[in-house]
Amino acid sequence: MKQRTNALFKLAESHYEAGVANGTQSRMHGWNDHVLPTALLSREIAKKAGGSAEEQELAFVAGLLHDWKRLPDQKLKKLGKEDCHERDSAAFARKILQVYGYSPEETESAAKAIASHSFGLSPENGARSVANAEGIVARALKAADKAGQLGAEGVWRRNVFLGEAKPNFTLEQARDYYGKRIKKFEEFAAAPEGKTLLACKGAKQGWKLMREYEERLHSEEAEAKKSKAVAGFYREAGATGMFLFGFGCGAKGWNEARTAKAYAAGFPIIRAKWLKAKLKKEEEAVVLKGLAFTKRLLV
Ligand SMILES: [Fe+2]
Ligand SMILES: [Fe+2]
Repeated sequence: MKQRTNALFKLAESHYEAGVANGTQSRMHGWNDHVLPTALLSREIAKKAGGSAEEQELAFVAGLLHDWKRLPDQKLKKLGKEDCHERDSAAFARKILQVYGYSPEETESAAKAIASHSFGLSPENGARSVANAEGIVARALKAADKAGQLGAEGVWRRNVFLGEAKPNFTLEQARDYYGKRIKKFEEFAAAPEGKTLLACKGAKQGWKLMREYEERLHSEEAEAKKSKAVAGFYREAGATGMFLFGFGCGAKGWNEARTAKAYAAGFPIIRAKWLKAKLKKEEEAVVLKGLAFTKRLLV
């Protein structure tokens, strides 16, 4: 890694870690859980897409800075603010990258990628869009950012995020919200940057798993309405159980001990009762690999 990127890496690590500790950064968008895996994958995707050494470095750098200004949703609500973190983080990147020795062209390339990474406001026309990333750097960043929404990792992050951001949601409302996110991803999957992501190893399987998970939530809900005994079973195991573990964990604020407990209880259940029935052994290994970074919570 070049010296300037190494210095930026250290700055980013301390920024995100301090932000999570003092509550100005969402845990679901923190360093270990999101930013570092996104930056690494962004570089990898840029390489696979045939990007030059410079484009690979910029894809990595954009990954480091892309959620710099992302406040937790509950904090935005308190302040009465809209989420514009892609635009604010891009503005920050324009300032900081020049200080760290990146040329105006390099700075602009990374900043543009950051401005278009979100399923959010287009920096050009203010319209909400799932597809507005142009060029290798921007496409790589957007694809890497959305990779965290797939597979078992995606299930977990979405449920904890919901609990963290929308503590007053009912389970039914939360399920509807989950369904809407799945639809939004469907739109993204049809766009060039979505295709870039789905060409990556394991991504198609992860996306299939998300759709199956949603279907499973609804079929469990229908089953639960038929019988109380069945409802009890599903609340302890399967997709609904996993949902409640994640949602409950987020709703009560982030707590490593609770999360470790939920992982230990929830993930093997969903893996044993659902994933195992669905996936071949080697496919399961792909899903588990996506969860590798969460293993530290299981100590
Ligand atoms: Fe973001
Ligand atoms: Fe992100």
